[in-house]
Amino acid sequence: MNKMIVSLLVALGLVGAVQAAGDPAVGQAKAVVCGACHGVDGNSPLPNFPKLAGQGERYLLKQMQDIKSGARPVLEMTGMLEPLGDQDMADVAAYFAAQKMTVGAADPGLVARGQALFRGGKLAEGMPACTGCHSPDGSGIAAAGYPHLGGQHADYIAKQLTAFREGERSNDGDSMLMRDIAAKLGNKDIEAVSSYIQGLH
Ligand code: HEC
Ligand code: HEC
Repeated sequence: MNKMIVSLLVALGLVGAVQAAGDPAVGQAKAVVCGACHGVDGNSPLPNFPKLAGQGERYLLKQMQDIKSGARPVLEMTGMLEPLGDQDMADVAAYFAAQKMTVGAADPGLVARGQALFRGGKLAEGMPACTGCHSPDGSGIAAAGYPHLGGQHADYIAKQLTAFREGERSNDGDSMLMRDIAAKLGNKDIEAVSSYIQGLH
């Protein structure tokens, strides 16, 4: 296609700029190696390995691209995405997105504080509620690339919020959405909201 026509179509939103559509059936075979840590269907049994099942396709693809490029360093995955091209990663993302995330349980002693933060934010400090972007049931907004959180391991969530706060995870873009939010969360807040998220569905 002529370059000018392509950019016109991109501007009109008729073709995606970079993203190829993933094929979940093809992705399943390419995702076998991931199962060792993330679980065959993306529901990892261990709390330090994030569940990928039911996660938004766009978010999954972006994280894979960021992990591969080093924008989000994940030591455990060093070299693992090297053999996968853009289409392979899109297929794997489509496979995990088509699975269903299992739900864990929240610590009853932390629910009140966790729920207040998740649903109400800290308005006095200018921190918005999590629901605005991750939705009230924690399912996120897949089309916008806002991740699904509900049911995710609390240990993993707590590690991410701490990493955003300390600036160790910085792949949330120039707008620093999550780094700004996590900056307002103390350790007790993180513990409570992470536990709440683990039981949220
Ligand atoms: C040896 C274990 C291991 C293997 C195998 C592995 N991963 Fe991971 N992966 C991790 C860990 C650990 C993290 C989270 C790191 C952190 O805490 O930030 C992660 C994070 C991710 C994330 C980000 C999830 C999120 O919610 O942001 C994606 C996406 C991902 N892995 C995809 C894959 C894919 C695709 C494969 C297979 C090609 C794979 N991983 C293989 C250990 C592994
Ligand atoms: C203005 C929108 C917005 C709000 C409000 C928001 N988030 Fe996020 N969040 C995002 C986006 C966008 C990302 C993905 C960043 C990226 O691409 O790496 C994200 C990522 C995350 C992640 C990482 C998920 C994973 O699988 O690794 C966690 C955990 C998280 N948010 C928790 C929260 C909590 C808890 C709150 C409320 C205290 C909150 N967020 C409020 C937009 C938001």
